[in-house]
Formats: sequence, structure tokens, C-alpha cells
Amino acid sequence: MTAYGRPRDHTCIVRVCRDCCCGSERKHPGVDHDGLLARLEVGTRGHARVLRSACLLACDESNVVVVTPSAPGRRAGGRPVWLRAVLDDDTVDDVSEWVALGGPGVAAVPAALARRVFAPNALSLRWSAV
Ligand code: FES
Repeated sequence: MTAYGRPRDHTCIVRVCRDCCCGSERKHPGVDHDGLLARLEVGTRGHARVLRSACLLACDESNVVVVTPSAPGRRAGGRPVWLRAVLDDDTVDDVSEWVALGGPGVAAVPAALARRVFAPNALSLRWSAV
């Protein structure tokens, strides 16, 4: 169980890319990347593990976040969902709310996030599986 009473296998994993483009001031000046990451960690507490990732080879879509389903979500057919341009508080909060509802396989992608979903290329998929 997590500290919040949810069985541990009911938690999603949220991978936040932070490397050459995602999270960089050079590519996204004026964005509080550390603040967004902290906001996501607080917002998903008890519902997901937030992990930083090296470049996911999808830099054109930065900042990239990948929401991986919980065990029940996977059993229900959920698959990792790749999100582009996670660059503001509202989008981070949308991710947190979706994860709190159960994330992929349990709750539909919220309309506010649907336009940010993208299909990663084969190289990204292979790299992210490592
Ligand atoms: S730095 Fe995030 S996809 Fe490359």
C-alpha cells in the first residue's frame, strides 16, 4: 500500500523527460521546469511514481511526459501514453487529475490532454523500454 491507501500496483509511472531539450531553458526559455516537476510530483502523490528520464528521442515534442498504466490499467488494455508540450501548470494539473482517476486503461484521456497525445517513433519506443 502507498501512504495514501492505494495498493502499490495501482500506481502509474509518469516519466518526465529532462535532458537536452525537455526541461531546458535553451529550448523553452521562461518556463519554470523545476517548478513544473515539483507540481507534478505533489499532484500525483499516492497515485503515481514520477521518474526523470534521459532524452526519449522525441525532442520535437518537448517537454515530453509518458504516463505508463498501473497493473490494473495494463490488464484493462492500457498502454503508455506519450504527451507533448507539457509546459504549463494547467497541463501538469490535467496529467495529475487523470492519474488520480487511474490513468491509462482505467480512465479515458481527458479532453484537455487529447491534443497533446502523440505516437512515438520506433526508436523512442525501443529506447524507452530499456
Ligand atoms: S530531451 Fe526529451 S525527448 Fe529529447
